[in-house]
Amino acid sequence: MSEKMITLTIDGQSITVPEGTSILAAARQADKDIPVICYHDATTPNGLCRLCVVDVNQGRVLQPACVAQCQDGAVVETRNERVERSRRTILEMLDSAVDLGQAPEIQTLIHDYQAAPDRFPDAKRRDHSELDDNPFYVRDYSQCVLCWRCVQVCGEDAQYTFALTLGERGFNTHVTTLFDIGLLESPCVFCGQCVGVCPTGALKPKVEWGMEQGFSADEIRQMTRRPRRKADSEA
Ligand code: SF4
Ligand code: FES
Repeated sequence: MSEKMITLTIDGQSITVPEGTSILAAARQADKDIPVICYHDATTPNGLCRLCVVDVNQGRVLQPACVAQCQDGAVVETRNERVERSRRTILEMLDSAVDLGQAPEIQTLIHDYQAAPDRFPDAKRRDHSELDDNPFYVRDYSQCVLCWRCVQVCGEDAQYTFALTLGERGFNTHVTTLFDIGLLESPCVFCGQCVGVCPTGALKPKVEWGMEQGFSADEIRQMTRRPRRKADSEA
């Protein structure tokens, strides 16, 4: 059975796509750039960050393009005043709570949308201590924007390891391991997929981290050596 095709207008351009296509995918097909943070081509879209919101038929509520499906005859605007204001506010809220100093793509968006870094000066910040508990990568959740990408690739979107999960709720929500155990005790196989999809400096390879800290090559070699498991050392 052939796919049902639908036609909509995106920024004045008519485009025909199979039914079920997300607005983001259709917009990309039409060479329209919609900014994203939580969306990644390798993960299931969850519509978490809301940075990708677009105006559909001038509706009351803006719609997240990564999860909203195209509707036949819809008129979509990917960037108008309302959309810009919404994206600017999201960026300002993120910037007020999270250390975005090592998130170049988000920094570009902050500049592009003229987000004011001091819009919410009294906002509570997500402060976490750096976690250096294994030879492969360092975690600094003060830089985490809770996009879930790492949790998703660790789970059903790629690795099926389920070493990473989310802990607590509301403002205190953070990425962690089950029962908060160290990564070496967790099911983590250090595949590096979480580091690869992280859009900020929250997850960093140990070598890169060591160089930034000014450690010598020998020191970095020592700190990135895989510890021998008990069974290995007894063999
Ligand atoms: S650690 Fe990185 S990938 Fe994981 S949720 Fe935070 S920002 Fe996203
Ligand atoms: S990119 Fe669509 S909600 Fe985050």
